[in-house]
Amino acid sequence: MEFKVLATASEKLAQTAADALIWLVTEDAATQGTDPALRALLEQVVDAGDLAWKPGRSVLLHKPQGLVAKRLVIAVASGGGAASAKAVKAAVGAALAQVKQLGVKHVAVLLGMPCDDAHAEAVVAAASDAVYLYRHTKPSAPEAPQLAKLSLIVERAQAKAAQAGLDRGVAIAEGVKLARECGNRPANHCTPSFLADEAKKLGKRGGIKCEVLERKDCEKLGMGSFLAVAQGSYEPLKFIVLRYDGAPDKGRKAQAPVVLVGKGITFDTGGISIKPAPDMDEMKFDMCGAASVLGVFRTLAELQPKLNVVGLIPACENMPSGRSVKPGDVVTSMSGQTIEVLNTDAEGRLILCDALTYAERFKPAAVIDIATLTGACVIALGHHRSGLFSTDEALAQALLACGERALDPAWRMPLDDEYEEALKSNFADMGNVGGRAGGAITAAMFLRKFAGKLRWAHLDIAGTAWKSGAQKGATGRPVPLLVHYLLSR
Ligand code: BES
Ligand code: MN
Ligand code: ZN
Repeated sequence: MEFKVLATASEKLAQTAADALIWLVTEDAATQGTDPALRALLEQVVDAGDLAWKPGRSVLLHKPQGLVAKRLVIAVASGGGAASAKAVKAAVGAALAQVKQLGVKHVAVLLGMPCDDAHAEAVVAAASDAVYLYRHTKPSAPEAPQLAKLSLIVERAQAKAAQAGLDRGVAIAEGVKLARECGNRPANHCTPSFLADEAKKLGKRGGIKCEVLERKDCEKLGMGSFLAVAQGSYEPLKFIVLRYDGAPDKGRKAQAPVVLVGKGITFDTGGISIKPAPDMDEMKFDMCGAASVLGVFRTLAELQPKLNVVGLIPACENMPSGRSVKPGDVVTSMSGQTIEVLNTDAEGRLILCDALTYAERFKPAAVIDIATLTGACVIALGHHRSGLFSTDEALAQALLACGERALDPAWRMPLDDEYEEALKSNFADMGNVGGRAGGAITAAMFLRKFAGKLRWAHLDIAGTAWKSGAQKGATGRPVPLLVHYLLSR
């Protein structure tokens, strides 16, 4: 899809040529300084009682009088003053839902209020959401919306900010799309090898290098914990290393990278501690952390920012078989710490811990792991906010703020030493589970033992990485949050 900023004088708005013009209105500024034809139409629908001043409400007019555009959607973005980026995203989403199946190819979006970069980014996010359709294993899926072009109409003074937000939005949308596509592919398509191939494809883009470690390499490194999870599966494991080097200084003066670690369990049966059958299909989404790392690299390729980023993806299946790791088995992690595998379904932390140890070699400025780690996090936070855990105050605050700005919010969870008690084992340095209470926190406490002196944060995206039910599918989160964080550095 193509996005464009159009700086247009208010008296020319009626001349906007488009299959649909989407006009976002706020009650306070609805009739100020806009084209008389538009103003007349708005007054008519409001007087007729067809449009209430409630955010999310919209009305579709066919062949609107006095306008060149074939259709006009008036969408309420705010019942009062200027609308937030979040409200703009929702209003554009609602308006596009009205017109996208009508065969419209070109829509113009007119913000009836000042447009900053966050607004422009929100418009792009809403539009790319509206046109994404999973088809890879469903060729019979309904025709994708034909929407191919979106023009964002702003006043001349706001064109520069709008263009910046639009460019960022387009790059993020590419990353989100890749993350969704990987997440949605079934586990017999999206294997560890598939993730490695996607990473290698990214490695052909500017500034990105990709290296894939095989089982033998992981054995040499002593990744006993990751290997233990992978050993029950016929699918070969992959440990993917991506590097984006965009900072100008090279060699010894090189900028310390941010390391992103994504959980890449391409299917989680639970292993010997097998999961119940209902909804087990959704465990194909257990690689959404990995997918978000690939998505971020896709965005970096687009934006080419001046910074260094490393992506690490331990990828394997978690399967029950004659050679699976068993409850009670003790494994030795790359860090040297031993782990009693009390529950083979707590496999995410077992693959992440070795990746965290591997991350040390990059002398990182910060390490962020992203994982669909615990059902407990879904119970705690639901499907709106990702769980954020960090031992570093500044890093935690930065990630929280970026989540708000990216409309991809997180919520901080605690990491008090007291929670560590639950991980005690009589047979190893620690167990891999801590009981039902505070399950998302004890999982994070386990990871903390491997983060050592790193500036580290953990995002539990179990509730936010995909949707269940009729809308089942990957969301691409938290690509927007992560990109905003990287760009804020
Ligand atoms: N991938 C799951 C977490 C999960 C479950 C995410 C359901 C989203 C929905 C993870 O590997 C897992 O199985 N965690 C266990 C941990 C438990 C055994 C301590 C869980 O959450 O039940
Ligand atoms: Mn599991
Ligand atoms: Zn899992």
